[in-house]
Amino acid sequence: MKFHVDGIPTCPVDLANAATFADGPPHQLFAELREHVPVAWNPPGVDADGFWCLTRFDDIVPVNKDWQRFSSARKGSFLTEGGILPKEFTSLIFNMMDPPVHDRHRGLVQTAFTPKAINEREQDIRRTINLLIDDVIERGECDVVRDLAIELPLIVTANMLGAPVEDRKKLFAWANVLSDTTAPREEKLAVMGQVSSYLPQLIASRRQQPTEDLLSRLLHAELNGERLSEVEVMAHFVQLMLGGSETTRNAYAGGLLALLEYPEQMQRLRDEPALIPNAVEEILRWVTPIHHQARTATCDLQIGDMSIAENDKVVMWYAAANRDPAQNPDPGRFDVARVKPKHLTFGMGLHVCVGNQLARLELRVALEETLRRLTKIELSGPATRKPSNCFNWMLSVPIRFEPGPREGVTERI
Ligand code: HEM
Repeated sequence: MKFHVDGIPTCPVDLANAATFADGPPHQLFAELREHVPVAWNPPGVDADGFWCLTRFDDIVPVNKDWQRFSSARKGSFLTEGGILPKEFTSLIFNMMDPPVHDRHRGLVQTAFTPKAINEREQDIRRTINLLIDDVIERGECDVVRDLAIELPLIVTANMLGAPVEDRKKLFAWANVLSDTTAPREEKLAVMGQVSSYLPQLIASRRQQPTEDLLSRLLHAELNGERLSEVEVMAHFVQLMLGGSETTRNAYAGGLLALLEYPEQMQRLRDEPALIPNAVEEILRWVTPIHHQARTATCDLQIGDMSIAENDKVVMWYAAANRDPAQNPDPGRFDVARVKPKHLTFGMGLHVCVGNQLARLELRVALEETLRRLTKIELSGPATRKPSNCFNWMLSVPIRFEPGPREGVTERI
């Protein structure tokens, strides 16, 4: 492959093109970029303007830490401006903000995301995954994505936010349209209209009668005497519903797929369940549910030998950094017992994922229960993906299994 054009280190394949991700992240290409052109220019294509690609872990860390010179607000934090939401809504989403505005929003949301509040979710997560397993266990087969992985984070987040049970179907349908990178803009705008007319009623009822849920906490959260406005609370409701759904879904489905592709690793977890928290970290590294995050240079600057111009987009390929051999020896080996898997799956610095502890908890509990209740799991057909430059998106992971212990869970969602 040719890695230089007119003397400029260049990515030989368009990384903005979803087709490049048809078989999953292009790990061979990432390895070559890391080795030959760790700071490479991706020329403009059909899907995005030109952008710089960073593929080494050690080049990404300083960019992530330096929000003054690498902005999330100027052109958003995805390759394509706006990312998954229509552009007009992104100014309300705090992963597309810079300080000091970002810090105010994050600080207020963080007050409702305490370790105690997260740990209190464990029982609900366990109950939810067991109810989902109850629905498929007699069949001896299911689709991990459709039957388990889509539902789990949506239900867990909706429960945490305090969305009424009778509204769940429409909330999930909205979340699915908004997080679909291929859904038409008009459809997304229509959904945002519906969300905007739905949420004020729910907010009004929580103002009158606060409960223990996250929505009430967001409404009453206070930082330096300030509270969030109604529009801001609505934006955070949507951000939290979306932030936790696609990502956790693909980590769970992709993680189970990895365990099926490396059955000796699945067996190791069955034999040593104490390894599950470590397996979660290896799965997060291996799957990297969000391939990239982007920043925009706020001034002319240098990364390594390369001159980056103000307003150039710099894309941090987390999927590549997570397999950087400088951080994880033999990175192409999936190993649930890997010593301290190092990954940037949740980002780092100012924008590090607010929900990372919740996601880790969901994945741990989901794995514990899946392995406990389903035995002799094997793939019953090909796993399929939806190519995306943004999400490591699983469409289907069909499995067959033998039922393990029956659960006496009868209370329905
Ligand atoms: C495996 C699951 C998850 C992954 C891989 C993931 C990944 C990420 C990444 C990479 C970022 C950093 C964005 C940046 O650098 O600009 C981020 C931010 C964020 N995530 Fe997550 N996330 C996950 C689960 C969740 C959950 C469960 C929630 C909440 C319910 C959540 C809410 C957020 C929010 C609100 C931000 C913005 C933080 C900020 O800009 O300060 N995420 N996530």
